[in-house]
Amino acid sequence: MQLKLAVLISGSGSNLQALINSCAEADYPAQISLVISNNENAGGLNRAKNAGIQTLVVRHTDFTKSDEFEGALTEALELAKVDLVCLAGFMRILGLTFVDHWRDRLINIHPALLPAFKGLDTHKRALEAGVRIAGCTVHYVRAEVDSGPIIAQAAVPVMSDDTEELLAERVLAQEHRLYPLAVELIARGQVQVKGGRARIVGAGKSNLMALISPQTNACQ
Ligand code: GRF
Repeated sequence: MQLKLAVLISGSGSNLQALINSCAEADYPAQISLVISNNENAGGLNRAKNAGIQTLVVRHTDFTKSDEFEGALTEALELAKVDLVCLAGFMRILGLTFVDHWRDRLINIHPALLPAFKGLDTHKRALEAGVRIAGCTVHYVRAEVDSGPIIAQAAVPVMSDDTEELLAERVLAQEHRLYPLAVELIARGQVQVKGGRARIVGAGKSNLMALISPQTNACQ
């Protein structure tokens, strides 16, 4: 049986596109049932429509309290009977009630190697800090921003002449590879959360190697 996904977006939705592409593969164990955006102008909505996926706009500005906004999200997600909620560039901080309700059924992709560089402007801060390796993380969501058990990470080198844009592009290419891999592991029942950590079980060696060793050049 395929895992039913919802993807929550606010912007261009390139990670959503990566998930759409993977779900179109014959043996991929998940399908996207619903795409929700808090922004009616999000480019990702067209990506979903082009793929024939149901879309919904829930504007946070239509609610006076964030609890009510999040309640409307939960109602739509439950109506669609989704198994897993994937945040993909969803630019709202979700409160404790929502996060607890969807505990271990709510994941996020962050453009940094957590727990380093939580929050916004990750690439700018990584360059300012002079790190040699950057990357991205897929993790279960907990109430504290950009925290929760880490499911998968991919690393990229930081070049000496990098700009924010170049680094962002290099990381984003890995995000598009990592998010579908992380969802696949969950869908195949290979991720166990225990004691604040996510453990990968029963993954084939090649699958695990792909997660921890993306095709990147040596670090400068
Ligand atoms: C990605 O960099 C993701 O890691 C972050 O927001 C960005 C969304 O990009 N959370 P896109 O909308 O998927 O293109």
